[in-house]
Amino acid sequence: MIQHAGRGMRSGIECKSGDKRYLSIVLGSRMDDIRSEQIERIEKYEAIIRDVERMMNADEIQDLAAIQEKVRLLEEYYESDLWKKDFADDEAGLLPKDLKRGVLSEDGIYNMLEAWKEKMKSMSRLKELRKYVDAELNKMEDADKRNSAIVHLYGVSLAATMIAKKRGMDSEIASMAAMLHDLHAYKTGSYDDHAHKGAELAREILGELKLTDESETEMICSAIYHHDDKLVVDSPMDEVLKDADVIHHCMNDMSKEIKEKEQARFESLCKEFGLSLLFTTK
Ligand SMILES: [Fe+2]
Repeated sequence: MIQHAGRGMRSGIECKSGDKRYLSIVLGSRMDDIRSEQIERIEKYEAIIRDVERMMNADEIQDLAAIQEKVRLLEEYYESDLWKKDFADDEAGLLPKDLKRGVLSEDGIYNMLEAWKEKMKSMSRLKELRKYVDAELNKMEDADKRNSAIVHLYGVSLAATMIAKKRGMDSEIASMAAMLHDLHAYKTGSYDDHAHKGAELAREILGELKLTDESETEMICSAIYHHDDKLVVDSPMDEVLKDADVIHHCMNDMSKEIKEKEQARFESLCKEFGLSLLFTTK
């Protein structure tokens, strides 16, 4: 910890209030306190940025939530008036020379935050999301319901990947939407308005995990929001999730009859994928 020069030096001087010297001592002490707080703050964020760099450069990210929290703190500091003041004081030469302050370099935090975004894009976001979903599903006490939830979410996720690839769309986003699409229903045990409520839950989860940028989050939440509207056509990504859901409903157990509201969509999918299937409706 760097001690600011002069801190505590005035404490032994005796003088009365109202005296100009008293005022200057009080103001000087206050300035010392402010400078000490500033130095502690810079040291704190300097340690955080070094931690993030170290964690980012590790072969495998061990604790995603921890690094995301540190990135969030850095973002908050970088956007604050405190960072602007610390930066300005550094430029004015008011900080101790031996203070480590990479966090105040003009491009320091910005470059690190950009590197983090790139890292997040390059790592398997689907794997990270599946870890989260697995943990949520493992909380289900009924083993049969838990198993069918796992089978359905992973099955729809695989189908979504296949459909998105075939249509030249982002298969990772499609697969992530599929992993979350019925999670609300499984967590609550209710399908009442489950698509809309599921979209809200997905937004909360994606906000917490910070795996996606704003437009990706919107795409995933829109797909979940519309996934139960099988008789209407929505955006291309919405359609990928609806079709993936239908494929799993219709093909996970071929002995089951196909629901009437899913028949046209399934026929169209069979044509798209060159499948010739006999099926019945109920
Ligand atoms: Fe579903």
